[in-house]
Amino acid sequence: MSPASDLLAQTLAQPDFHPRLPQQRRLYEAAKAAIHQQLLGAGNKLPSSRDLARDLGISRNTVIAAFEQLGVEGYVTSALGSGTYVADLQAHSASMRGGFHPQQDGAGEDGAEVAPLSRRGQELTVFAAGPRYEIQPFAPGDADFSSFPFKLWQRLQNRVWREARADLLDYGQSGGYLPLRQAITEYLRISRSVKVSVEQVMVTAGTQHSLDLCAQLLADPGDTAWVEDPCYWGARRVFQANDLLLHPITVDGDGMALEPADLATNPRLIYVTPSHQYPTGAVMSLARRRELLDVALTKNAWILEDDYDSEFRYTGRPLAALQGLDTGDRVVYMGTFSKVLYPGIKIGYVVAPPQLVDAFKSALYDLQRPGQLMVQAALADFIALGHFTTHIRKIRQIYGARREMLRRTLVHQLGTHAHGVTISSEESGLHLVVELPAHVDDVALEKLAAESGIQVKALSNYYLAPPVRRGLLVGYAYCTPEKIAYYGRLLASVILSGVRR
Ligand SMILES: Cc1ncc(COP(=O)(O)O)c(C=O)c1O
Repeated sequence: MSPASDLLAQTLAQPDFHPRLPQQRRLYEAAKAAIHQQLLGAGNKLPSSRDLARDLGISRNTVIAAFEQLGVEGYVTSALGSGTYVADLQAHSASMRGGFHPQQDGAGEDGAEVAPLSRRGQELTVFAAGPRYEIQPFAPGDADFSSFPFKLWQRLQNRVWREARADLLDYGQSGGYLPLRQAITEYLRISRSVKVSVEQVMVTAGTQHSLDLCAQLLADPGDTAWVEDPCYWGARRVFQANDLLLHPITVDGDGMALEPADLATNPRLIYVTPSHQYPTGAVMSLARRRELLDVALTKNAWILEDDYDSEFRYTGRPLAALQGLDTGDRVVYMGTFSKVLYPGIKIGYVVAPPQLVDAFKSALYDLQRPGQLMVQAALADFIALGHFTTHIRKIRQIYGARREMLRRTLVHQLGTHAHGVTISSEESGLHLVVELPAHVDDVALEKLAAESGIQVKALSNYYLAPPVRRGLLVGYAYCTPEKIAYYGRLLASVILSGVRR
């Protein structure tokens, strides 16, 4: 038996080591603990799945599944044909974030080193999506805040303060400021075909907070969450922070594509962006929507529908939400004002199915102490007086024109399919995906672009499983036409240099 097998066997033999978890999860926990304690050091080769299965007396599939989960979370790396190796967590984390040094920060009573962060904290500070720069040309997802109606907002805000309503200074216990919840209800019914009554709408501190509430209320540590692959980083982080097991499901042109192997697992949560998959832009087909609703019903799982940017559809009518098709009350729908107004407003909402309303309302109060009713009141007026619709119309026009300009610039430089490069053509969202041939290292291209002052994102960094597509996410909303023309050409030359290499 190899030393690594021996170490894992000893851990697993301890009767109090996660006795109620399934074998695959126990093995994953044992390996994770050994890696954090550096008993399995960076660069160490793990035994093959066959050898480890034999040494531990468990099935090879169990070992493979545990290795896959460790790979997904960045604990190990696999090189085709050469085996599985322990990743260098400290170097990764230190280089990405300025770093922390768990082994230098004090010793426990028995002299053993004690990390300053919890294991979860260590996982969460490994930031594989790359550093976040302040806004630079082509940062995906960033809206153009310069078109925010500052003066109007100030007037509405002043009016609320002049009314001097003491009740609006409290946390608020009823799920948010009622007129805002009413305005959201009406907007969702008309624009998104959501089936909703005002009681179901609760104002949160944005989608990140809505997801956290869902994870805390609807899943227990160790439960499985199905996520799209590639997946929105924010959602992935929240589920990890709540100790959920992420099960990636490949996304194709019709959205999340369930395979028999996926259906063999039992999720508690299913996270989807059906109207405009983040980051690929796929729209989930009607057949897939129906299938997903059926699966959720049979498996007693909750679908978390993140409808983050449906306002930005440049041709045709906005697509109806998945929630509108749900006859089994399995969908928790969520939206945000981050994109249409500004991220720092920190206001979003959940539409809970009727049976969850009381639980969400009380958790919102108990866990968050929400408050911000003065801002909510100004926003309610902003919507009720028609400014919200006008603002959406205005920025939709601006972003649509920028999108078209970026597309034209890139197509002009790169051709539509020349060099194996494809530029996404869907008419929505705040970014384009420039898909690259499989041999191109998109992470290296992201770095190269950053050296020219361009902040694109590598598609492969959004995958949990090994990436099946390579590409760059290119945001256009923030970029003025002059910048699109200049940086578009620069980006095209960076892409060409990568493709020709
Ligand atoms: C898929 C997706 N959901 C939600 C959000 C934002 O949510 P919030 O700012 O309300 O947390 C983003 C922002 O980039 C996103 O890409």
